[in-house]
Amino acid sequence: MTNIDDILNKEHLDYEDIVMLLSIEDKNDMQKVFDKALSVKANAIGRFVYLRGLIELSNICRKNCLYCGIRRDNYKAIRYTLFHDEVMESVRLTEKFGFGSIVIQSGELLGDTFIETLESYIKEIHQKYPELLITLSCGEQTPEVYKRWFDAGAHRYLLRIESSDEELYYSIHPKDENHSFKARMQALTDLRNTGYQVGTGVMIGLPNQTIEHLAKDLIFFRDFDVDMIGMGPFIEHSETPLYEKRNLLWSLEKRFNVSLLMIAILRIMMPTINIAASTALESLDNQGRRKAILAGANVVMPNVTPLYKKKNYKLYENKPGIHLNPWESLKSIHDSIENCGEHICYHNPGIPKHFRDRTNSI
Ligand code: 5AD
Ligand code: SF4
Repeated sequence: MTNIDDILNKEHLDYEDIVMLLSIEDKNDMQKVFDKALSVKANAIGRFVYLRGLIELSNICRKNCLYCGIRRDNYKAIRYTLFHDEVMESVRLTEKFGFGSIVIQSGELLGDTFIETLESYIKEIHQKYPELLITLSCGEQTPEVYKRWFDAGAHRYLLRIESSDEELYYSIHPKDENHSFKARMQALTDLRNTGYQVGTGVMIGLPNQTIEHLAKDLIFFRDFDVDMIGMGPFIEHSETPLYEKRNLLWSLEKRFNVSLLMIAILRIMMPTINIAASTALESLDNQGRRKAILAGANVVMPNVTPLYKKKNYKLYENKPGIHLNPWESLKSIHDSIENCGEHICYHNPGIPKHFRDRTNSI
């Protein structure tokens, strides 16, 4: 039987190798994978961490994903949309903190008002802070809308595929025209064709999800040649339909460990992409983001949404940092990353080397 060291020394990981690595339960063997990922990162892109200011623009969503606390039918969610001045204040803080990029995230909203408002925000931010790279995470839109926002000045887009397995995808989304797996896949291609740096990702530890599904997700990322990945543990929310399946879930410890393994294995497979240490990891372990960085992640997204609004952007329970204002969020991240050999790069958008190589840009 092949041992872990042999697999970690291979040039190319195939499906069986990935399944084997994801199945590791022994702590020492896990550490070998994390150490390998960290050395791959150090060699390929250096031990640098990039920060993005995350603005949760609106928790109003037209979709009804079965796992998400701000799904359309959760009548208990208190809905909000940030006002113009709140958005600009969050952007001002992001720039003042020296983060290289701002991420504008929102529930999926269609319609001219949303499209135009966001377009005007993008233009205003781009004009006031030309150095700040604008990232969007606003769901599936038409190619025309992606292009409008791109032309306004947004150059990076995050859209998780959630699971690259069609059957599993439909077990966590309603089966209707609003939640089409094909449309989701197409959206990633449209974003790529528009010229965005494209990020995607999956949740880890969903009901009925297996190690084999996750291995295929990693291969999907490699085949699609993604620039960025954000993935983290699934955390059940009591006001969602998927809560009924909570007896099928892996333990929180297993969801956490497999999430770290996913990050580490992906770093070994794709040395030059950006990989985020997700907030959901931090809600399972207060050292979650630091552990993810030491397992190969290189991006952290401190929340800069005004404190009195962000408590309502609750995708899952126990969202961490809900009582921290933006200064405190930054301090907690800074403190947890420093002293572990990593260097936080301020005033740098952290464009993935993978994107530059793929597009021959500087
Ligand atoms: N647990 C973990 N992650 C979640 N997301 C949504 N709901 C949950 C949950 N219950 C993730 C999805 C989505 C991202 C914005 O948040 O992957 O794409
Ligand atoms: Fe809406 Fe995104 Fe939540 Fe789905 S995961 S309900 S699209 S906010």
